[in-house]
Order: sequence, then structure tokens, then C-alpha cells
Amino acid sequence: MKEIISSVGKLNHIAIAVPNIQIASDMWKKALGANVSTPQTLHDHGVKVVFVEAPNTKVELLEPLYENSPISKFLQKNPNGGMHHICYEVENIKSASKRLEAVGAKILGDGLPKIGAHGNPVIFLDPKDFSGTLIELEEVK
Ligand code: CO
Repeated sequence: MKEIISSVGKLNHIAIAVPNIQIASDMWKKALGANVSTPQTLHDHGVKVVFVEAPNTKVELLEPLYENSPISKFLQKNPNGGMHHICYEVENIKSASKRLEAVGAKILGDGLPKIGAHGNPVIFLDPKDFSGTLIELEEVK
């Protein structure tokens, strides 16, 4: 049998949903001395995002853009905010998708990659398959 060559690479980011990105950014800057980017609006994902840079990875703070944003329900359950997902890098998102399909792990939405915050294709995996954790896979060349 041909081996499927797709395994996770580096941890690219940890995403945290926040009710107010300005308040959160200020706190991470002032209390942690973190380097925080200017906010970006991602209409496809329904969020506003800032990147908090660390030497080995980054944290993304996400604020919903509108009431039915994909992170709105999460914030209703976690009104102070909380860890929303972790993102691993993969070399090839198509072969990663095939591997997931082969073991019966579900890809959320229509199962097809979307363009993520860094301009790369991303997919999200069903948290039910991963101990309650939402995992994003991002193709990084
Ligand atoms: Co992400």
C-alpha cells in the first residue's frame, strides 16, 4: 500500500476568541510586553484579527465581525473569551485532506480549503475527533 505522506509540521498559531480586540490587544501589549500587529478584517472568516508575535509561534486574537460570525457561539459560551483553535502547518493540504478522509476524520464546512489569515489555504477539523479541540491545518510552502 502506498504511504500517505502528510504529517503535521510546526505549530503556526494559537487563536483566542475575544469580545473586544482593542482591550485584549492593549492588555497583551502592556502586561506582557508583546508585539501586537494592527487589526486586519477577514470577511471570509467573519473576524477581525491581530497577531501577537512570539519567537517560536504567534497568538491570534479574534473578534467577531458580526452577530453570526463563526466565533459568535463560542463567545456566547465563553463571554470573557478563550482558546478557540490551534493551527498546525502542513506541506500539502490536499494530501492532508486525503489522510483525514482515510481515517474518517471530518473536515468542517464543505471540506474544501479556504484562504486563511496568512493568504494560505486552510481547513478546520471537527473538534469531536480531537479531544474537543478545534484544529486548523494551514498549507505553508
Ligand atoms: Co487560525
